[in-house]
Amino acid sequence: MTNKLETTALGGVPTGLYIGGSWRAAESERLLPVEDPSTGNVLVEIADASPADGMAALDAAVEAQESWGVTPPRERGEILRRAFETIMERIDELALVLTLEMGKPLGESRGEIAYAAEFVRWYGEEAVRINGRYTVSPNGSGRILTMKEPVGPCLFITPWNFPLAMGTRKIGPAIAAGCTMVVKPAKQTPLSMLLFAAILEECGLPPGVCNVVTTSNSGAVMEPLIRDGRARKLSFTGSTPVGRKLAEQAAGGLLRTSMELGGNAPFVVFADADLDAAVEGAMIAKMRNMGESCVAANRFLVETPVAAEFAGRLAERMAALVVGRGTEEGVDVGPIIDSPSREFIHGLVQDARSRGASVLTGGDVPEGPGWFYPPTVLCEIHPEARIVDEEVFGPVAPVLTFDGLDEAVAMANDTPFGLGAYVYTRDLARALSATERLEVGMVGLNRGLVSNPAAPFGGVKQSGLGREGGPEGLEEYLTTKYVAIEV
Ligand code: SIN
Repeated sequence: MTNKLETTALGGVPTGLYIGGSWRAAESERLLPVEDPSTGNVLVEIADASPADGMAALDAAVEAQESWGVTPPRERGEILRRAFETIMERIDELALVLTLEMGKPLGESRGEIAYAAEFVRWYGEEAVRINGRYTVSPNGSGRILTMKEPVGPCLFITPWNFPLAMGTRKIGPAIAAGCTMVVKPAKQTPLSMLLFAAILEECGLPPGVCNVVTTSNSGAVMEPLIRDGRARKLSFTGSTPVGRKLAEQAAGGLLRTSMELGGNAPFVVFADADLDAAVEGAMIAKMRNMGESCVAANRFLVETPVAAEFAGRLAERMAALVVGRGTEEGVDVGPIIDSPSREFIHGLVQDARSRGASVLTGGDVPEGPGWFYPPTVLCEIHPEARIVDEEVFGPVAPVLTFDGLDEAVAMANDTPFGLGAYVYTRDLARALSATERLEVGMVGLNRGLVSNPAAPFGGVKQSGLGREGGPEGLEEYLTTKYVAIEV
């Protein structure tokens, strides 16, 4: 049940589609119920867009592109700066809405809001630093001038696990670069994005630059926009199978794509590691966002001499976490996003158990309402257990053992995914060798957190294409025009 504070926060969330600078009901007047994963109760009903609404949003983005693309960079940056300040002023309200729709504890929600805001600030600062170059051609007979231009209208499909931060990681650089956009948030967690659209409006973003369509039918609404030919870029954060399908749709019109997809991050602990630091890092790499992150540690690979101690200490820390409704005081772990996701997680645990894994803590689905799952540590994992190959996306830590650097690297790379990895060792040469040999886009070296708005987030292999964050994340929204000058 929602209390007065929660009802007030929900009352401040717009419930319409944001298209061309105005809020409107869905053309069909259909409504999309948004549920609280900790109770299963409906929090609020919002507009459920149809394909016609999606097309209206693309029309608005296309219409706004020309003037937005030539809006002075300082103006674009100032809008982002004001939006950063507004988000931070309203952090409590935004965090509460985020917790209600997604389930994570309030402290984590505040962390996500600050993370989301930092993308807005960082790219606001970058807007005025977009530039090209001027070079004398090698034979001296001409000049080479390059200029950066916005790629054009973009389509963004954002996930439920970081409902605001994964949006601002796309919206921030797109605004800074001078692109317009249609944003389609996840149907489970659209509320934070609607609030953000209202903040952008309040901070002076011109009509049509950022359009938000909420829908229960992402495929039907987004596929026509991807195939339409007027959008020039698609950025998606989500699963690898969906990313592959979207990339196929985008291929027809040769849209530029950024795909931030699934992971299977190894967390490698060598015998010489500082075990206190490794356990601390493991808690962050596994339990940040309750394990519902593509960069969460998925497999703990621990060198045999320290494996039992590491697993025991990790299990002790995991068992001490308090599971409950994210709005309650003292809660560390909220619910899983929905029932199918919890079933999937539990299926992986049962499969590992059926192949001989022992459970050091957790492993059972609790009774009662909400989609809660206990922090779980498994060891003695069969190499063919599904949990070794599949992304858990939840609070479950399987501990496997290895002997020596070569085996660690072989096990770590034995996956089609290549997003993140974590390495704990005190030996610099071993750290560098492991880092160079790991087939991933990001490595946490003696550190359980890689995410940073100023750094390029992204993967290799089946984990995706492109980078988000940092200067690389801005380049994704810019195209280079080259001018050959006769002298
Ligand atoms: C993700 O889970 O998609 C990204 C998480 C992050 O930015 O840390």
